[in-house]
Amino acid sequence: MSEAMEKKKVLSCIQPSGMLTLGNYLGALKNWINMQDEFECTYAVADLHAITVRQEPAKLRAQIYSTYALMLALGLDTQKSTLFIQSHVPEHAQLSWLLSCYTQFGELSRMTQFKDKSAKHSDNVNVGLFSYPALMAADILLYKPDFVPVGADQKQHLEIARDIATRFNHIYGDVFTVPEPYIPKTGARVMSLQDPTKKMSKSDENVNAWVAILDDKDTVIRKFKRAVTDSLAQVRLSDEQPGIKNLIGIYSAVTNKTPQEIEKEFDGKGYGEFKLAVGEAVADELAPIRESYNTIISDKAELERLFREGGQRAEFIARKTYLKAMKKVGFVL
Ligand code: TRP
Repeated sequence: MSEAMEKKKVLSCIQPSGMLTLGNYLGALKNWINMQDEFECTYAVADLHAITVRQEPAKLRAQIYSTYALMLALGLDTQKSTLFIQSHVPEHAQLSWLLSCYTQFGELSRMTQFKDKSAKHSDNVNVGLFSYPALMAADILLYKPDFVPVGADQKQHLEIARDIATRFNHIYGDVFTVPEPYIPKTGARVMSLQDPTKKMSKSDENVNAWVAILDDKDTVIRKFKRAVTDSLAQVRLSDEQPGIKNLIGIYSAVTNKTPQEIEKEFDGKGYGEFKLAVGEAVADELAPIRESYNTIISDKAELERLFREGGQRAEFIARKTYLKAMKKVGFVL
């Protein structure tokens, strides 16, 4: 393939969580799938990041398997993309050490996620929680991606990765590619079904606030039926109606209908009917994913074969970048 025809590279990672939500799916993962043809994609389960808060070993292990299986069930394809588990490629931790020596204490202290998480887990403000952005920078810079799709909550971390890369290149020459954030053309910011001014989050105590990708049909529909709306009784896209706005966004993301088409479809109809339609559309979208997940997770040997192979492919790339950086700094290889 000639250089001009080479695909641009994309990298992203997701933390292993037992309960990825509709928000993760519509806000991030659906775009990962759509990017597979246009870009050369590398996606990882960021398991090393997960231990910045305490994890129960058996649960963490199960969640790493299930997150990888869910990536496959959603339609990520090892024939098109490199799909692996972060800890299988030791260069992530190794480069992270190197980069942490080019990262300032002051800049890490300003990270809003660090401030939030250290307030929330005040009994365990560990050094890993603090230096997490240096590990994330390593995840990214090892693969020289052109684009990194991230949500709003990770933009600050991507910014610091860019700063670290620029700083390192300034000292040692052209080692790292400085990646751009990727803002998808489509992609919904999915809010809580119980408080539409807050982002949908699996850590919400109210289970009706969020929908898991693996929730069954009845559960999905029930949660949408209970979604908080307002008393204006009109399906209109407006900031004064955050609950309805959220439901329109979700319905639009799964049906590809525009908000205008949706307003028209439900003109003069009640919220009950609208909420049911959204619930059914979401349930229909999630059903085949759940089915495929159940098949994939039951074949552990095949799952392991796939993530080992992905890890080897990833390490081949990561190793080169890592050794180049080491050599530039002055290590004896
Ligand atoms: N920190 C990200 C999150 O919590 C996950 C992540 C780890 C990531 N490494 C990354 C995202 C590299 C993009 C690129 O969501």
